Amino acid sequence: MYNLLYNTVVSYFDSDTEYEHMTILSNTSAIIYQLFPNINWVGFYIYKNNCLHLGPFQGKPACMKIDINNGVCGYSARNKQSIIVDNVHEFEGHIACDSNSNSELVIPIIINNKLYGVLDIDSPIFNRFSKDDLLLFESIVDYISIFLK
Ligand code: SME
Repeated sequence: MYNLLYNTVVSYFDSDTEYEHMTILSNTSAIIYQLFPNINWVGFYIYKNNCLHLGPFQGKPACMKIDINNGVCGYSARNKQSIIVDNVHEFEGHIACDSNSNSELVIPIIINNKLYGVLDIDSPIFNRFSKDDLLLFESIVDYISIFLK
């Protein structure tokens, strides 16, 4: 599944083509949602003016604007660090967009040493995300970042 997911993302990109950011983020969230099992939400938040703004996603409608000081997304963005939360109900300041979410993984997106945004993935299953999952999504973020420059 790991290779399939990574390779599917890669297969949509032509290295000689410039893509709109919206296009890249839309298809990447759709591919993850289709191929990565047991998740209820996946999407991007884009950083601007100390806030994270909802970008392309799959799943239920979500919070549109998150202060950088709040939530799991804000934590990852502030620290420029990926994070796995095994039980979101135990994370102080977690923002519940979909009440079905029980665990979460957030990967920061850094372009030219600056925070661009985050990739956020929610699961209805506790302890859903492993260290290998985190590495997979970091590699997907690294790949799409080439096209977001
Ligand atoms: N749970 C996130 C908010 C975004 S939604 O999960 C889509 C957080 O605590 O930052």
